[in-house]
Amino acid sequence: MLEVSDLRVAYGAVSALDGVSLSVGPGVTTAVLGANGAGKTSLLRAMTGMVRAKSGRVVWKGTELTRLASEEIVRQGVAHVPEGRGVIQDLTVEDNLRLGGLWRSDREDRRKALEEMYEFFPALRERRRRSAYTLSGGERQMLAVGRALMARPELLLLDEPSLGLAPIIVAQIMELVARLSADTGLTVLLVEQNARAALSISERAVVLSLGKVVVEGAAADIAADEELRHHYLGF
Ligand SMILES: Nc1ncnc2c1ncn2[C@@H]1O[C@H](COP(=O)(O)OP(=O)(O)O)[C@@H](O)[C@H]1O
Ligand SMILES: [Mg+2]
Repeated sequence: MLEVSDLRVAYGAVSALDGVSLSVGPGVTTAVLGANGAGKTSLLRAMTGMVRAKSGRVVWKGTELTRLASEEIVRQGVAHVPEGRGVIQDLTVEDNLRLGGLWRSDREDRRKALEEMYEFFPALRERRRRSAYTLSGGERQMLAVGRALMARPELLLLDEPSLGLAPIIVAQIMELVARLSADTGLTVLLVEQNARAALSISERAVVLSLGKVVVEGAAADIAADEELRHHYLGF
């Protein structure tokens, strides 16, 4: 369903992805792991048109994405929650959510999507009139995910949703991702430095190091591989 082949990304002379290939089945949650600088963010950016790949292909449901504009990629059902929680601090919770559904022309459809988000995230309904900056870190991450879901994606790309959050909140975010996947059949690429947390809710995993895939396999196998864990995953 998602097929990345031989993807290369560079920033000037700095190579970030050096021929990355991976495939993801429909409805599967895949953890994308690796140390700081491994190329995880660059992989997501290249998939959503935020950086141009130097070469390689990203094929999603038969459509090649790497030459499309970002808004065209959203229309293909791909949503990206960037590193650092993509919410607009000065807007209310509800306006942030509405922004995510803006490109939908059907008002009724947008209203329904908003209602669904509040059902899924009751805490956001309670805070809907508040500015995003008044939210806690965990709530802000929920809002960022909710905003992405307003576009009703089929493929969700999450970049380090647990970054900077307390362990108990990390567990809540992971549970949320697992519930999303179970309830909606969403396909998820979960980029995380917190490998242990990500592996606990993923079916598959890919480990990157210096822009290359070290291993791709079942999450349980990777979690059980002590040497791999010590070398690349830090637990
Ligand atoms: N905007 C940028 N300009 C120059 N180099 C960058 C930029 N973004 C990332 N890099 C470099 O690309 C490599 C991969 O980075 P990144 O994709 O952010 O990795 P990760 O998300 O795994 O930490 C690193 O060497 C990083 O320093
Ligand atoms: Mg990153």
